[in-house]
Amino acid sequence: MLVAPKSGQIQPTPVQDWSAYTPEHHAVWATLYRRRMETLRSTGSMVFLRGIDAIGLSEDRVPDLARVNQRLSGLTGWAAVPVGGFLPAPEFFEQLALRRFPTTIAIRPTEQLDYLPEPDIFHDVFGHVPLHADPVFADFLARVGGLAESARDEDHIRHLARFFWFTVEFGLIREHGHTKIYGSGLISSIADAEHALGPHCDRRPFSLDAVLRQHFEIDRLQKLLFVIGSFDDLFAAVEELSRRTR
Ligand SMILES: [Fe+2]
Repeated sequence: MLVAPKSGQIQPTPVQDWSAYTPEHHAVWATLYRRRMETLRSTGSMVFLRGIDAIGLSEDRVPDLARVNQRLSGLTGWAAVPVGGFLPAPEFFEQLALRRFPTTIAIRPTEQLDYLPEPDIFHDVFGHVPLHADPVFADFLARVGGLAESARDEDHIRHLARFFWFTVEFGLIREHGHTKIYGSGLISSIADAEHALGPHCDRRPFSLDAVLRQHFEIDRLQKLLFVIGSFDDLFAAVEELSRRTR
């Protein structure tokens, strides 16, 4: 679930009726899963690859959130919670602090396999949720959510949204001398991932101050991305953000 940069409408909480997914829905999931995993085996962070196995995602079926959550709850206490659409940023972060990840349950239509402006279950579950199985990342994400409670004004929320964008959504990480993908927007999109690792993306070492200054646009390829050395960098950044919002 992407963070809405401006406030929007809170949708009524839906329930995932897994039996309502059609063969076409499952076929879309299977196609997306197969296409992404072809390259993610070599370009995805090991944290993502371990997480895929840990939460038991199926290659050919839309995930049943109840089954995913059974795995997750025992690993890190996180849950993927169905929502109907964008949440305003404060409510979104509030859910993260509770280790609840707002998750869309619709899947994109066959005609829009490669690009969908809004998140769907492939972005939210395939892109985000595997990392929630990692204890270090799970703690980090809950801390990010907790920061919103002490955010005093719109500037703080904007900074949090930028931090989230350039880490959780579009983050890169160095692993064993190679730059790998861990951000969900890159995990779930062929075009964004190819661009992020290609010659036209300006990849810079992660800097909290640079991230907080960096404007982002949600509907185009990112010209500039930030590379962490390890998830320790994210924890240090959260600590610093916490100091600044007190
Ligand atoms: Fe997202």
